[in-house]
Amino acid sequence: MTDRTDVIDVIDLGVGQPDPAILPLARLRAAAAHALAGPGAASLQYGPEQGSPVLRGSLADLLSRHTGTPVEPAELLITAGASHGLDLVVERFAAPGATIFVEDPSYFFAFDVLRSRGARLVPVPTDRDGLDVEALERMLQVEVPAFVYTVPVFHNPTGVTLTGSRRRRLVELAQEYGFLVVADEVYQLLGQPGREPAPLRTFDAERVLSLGSFSKILGPGVRLGWIECTASRLARLVDNGVLRSGGGVSPIASAIVHSAISLGIQDEYLAEIRAVYERRRRHVVRLLDGSLTADFQVMPATGGLYVWLRLPEGLDATGLAAPAEAAGVRFRPGPVFSCAGNFPNYLRICVAPYDESRLTVAVQRLSRVLLRQPSRAGGVR
Ligand SMILES: Cc1ncc(COP(=O)(O)O)c(C=O)c1O
Repeated sequence: MTDRTDVIDVIDLGVGQPDPAILPLARLRAAAAHALAGPGAASLQYGPEQGSPVLRGSLADLLSRHTGTPVEPAELLITAGASHGLDLVVERFAAPGATIFVEDPSYFFAFDVLRSRGARLVPVPTDRDGLDVEALERMLQVEVPAFVYTVPVFHNPTGVTLTGSRRRRLVELAQEYGFLVVADEVYQLLGQPGREPAPLRTFDAERVLSLGSFSKILGPGVRLGWIECTASRLARLVDNGVLRSGGGVSPIASAIVHSAISLGIQDEYLAEIRAVYERRRRHVVRLLDGSLTADFQVMPATGGLYVWLRLPEGLDATGLAAPAEAAGVRFRPGPVFSCAGNFPNYLRICVAPYDESRLTVAVQRLSRVLLRQPSRAGGVR
């Protein structure tokens, strides 16, 4: 392969999309055939605002089995993905202009969703154990938000998981100061059952609303997700013009996903992608550790799709995007993930889109670019 071909063929470690080669097309074809085989045309009609009752039933069963904590169909609202779920929650539980605390760093598109409803975002520091609850407590002396938005498992972009003791402290603070916790748990099911801390709602089912999605466990194009919360909060969320007018989110997609769950397709696929992503993440971490110098640091994580890399002080990840692109690799610079523009010397790699051989080439290209930067403060150690 010539250099020229290399340059055209940019490997994009910036996007958070799955590898097309592992998307479950054949499996969903079978699920769709099963879902549409019966005589009833109910899935072509408007559905109930809360979402397909059969999907809520099979989803509750899936969540209960995989998280080891009981989930009630009555506490599930089907959404068009976690982004839609977050939009419904902010619209209902935070007035325009209200303050919302978000982790620093955090999932950047969530900022767009929250800001488009007029929210004012305030960053809360995080570390390798997730949201810094002591910093949060200090911030609460000054201001109490409508809610705290957190990604408590396999965080995007850091990959870290909020520890059990911090989970407990977070909900205690929520109870003490009277705010809600919105737990974006889209990566929960990518963990091995029983290995990750229990979902945040198990610490306080009343104050925590959980967001989930089929985007990370079937495919983003499915555009189905859910909110899990108390029946009374759910009634407030369902009291929504779009859900009333549209009759709930896609009954036909819901019927297909229900079949995927009830036929065992979802379980089978989950086991497969857990193993694939785990291999890819470990592979990238090993390559980075092996090729970079000690002044680069990979955030330790136990799972998920992301690798968060700290560059030496003085290196500007945003400025490195162009030379990296010229070398045939793309990443997301740190400041994108901060509502305050922090993390100039960090970058995120997503391991989902490529197999190990492409990831190897990508990390080689990236390492070369990172190591030849003259402005590295500490130099090679
Ligand atoms: C933390 C987090 N929340 C939500 C989403 C988007 O979810 P959905 O496709 O269900 O809207 C993503 C996608 O990357 C994410 O990382």
